[in-house]
Amino acid sequence: MLVAEKQCTLKNGKSAILRPIYPNEAETFLSAYIQTSSETSFISNYPEEINITVEQEKALLERFNENPNMFFIGAYVDDTFAGSISLMKKTNIKEKHKATFGIAVLQKYWGMGIGKALMIYAMEQAKAMGVKLLDLRVLSGNAKAIKLYEDLGFIKAGEIPGAFILKDGAEHSDIIMYKRL
Ligand SMILES: CC(C)(COP(=O)(O)OP(=O)(O)OC[C@H]1O[C@@H](n2cnc3c(N)ncnc32)[C@H](O)[C@@H]1OP(=O)(O)O)[C@@H](O)C(=O)NCCC(=O)NCCS
Repeated sequence: MLVAEKQCTLKNGKSAILRPIYPNEAETFLSAYIQTSSETSFISNYPEEINITVEQEKALLERFNENPNMFFIGAYVDDTFAGSISLMKKTNIKEKHKATFGIAVLQKYWGMGIGKALMIYAMEQAKAMGVKLLDLRVLSGNAKAIKLYEDLGFIKAGEIPGAFILKDGAEHSDIIMYKRL
């Protein structure tokens, strides 16, 4: 679905626009995603594992924008892409009250309040879609993301030790968190 455009003020006083990411922005979004994967160890893939084409990315964004059970929101500062959040609601009867999401902000924009603004807007939209329970997975070393989720009321449900092993051999648990909306 397409969310309405929303303006928010960042910690440095600048404003950011939160809005859908359109299919014709697939190339910019894909290169930002690859950039994020080189800026953090805390997303699932290393850059060389991201083999999606611009056409595939375009189709994915089309699907997110057209399907009422999912959305992709981009954050833009001075008309430039800074980060995104995507959310997918389950559709099977037993789980259709539930959704999961993925968030990433480009390193240049970390600490400005964009992650929190994206989360708050996504939670508002999720609630309006009838979502009653949000869950997520996060690597144990990702203190910043864990703090962000805890500040917004997410609770740690448990963890799977050794679920991730980075190239340098560092082991991380997969932490499961949830929030009732
Ligand atoms: C995690 C991430 C989304 C946070 O986005 P952000 O825009 O930098 O976050 P914000 O500026 O909105 O800060 C949100 C909260 O994070 C926490 N935080 C921010 N910077 C922090 C730091 N350096 N150390 C600890 N906590 C920090 C604070 O709780 C902050 O809330 P506050 O401003 O009320 O104190 C971003 O760092 C990111 O994209 N990281 C790489 C991808 C990733 O890890 N995604 C999540 C996978 S589960």
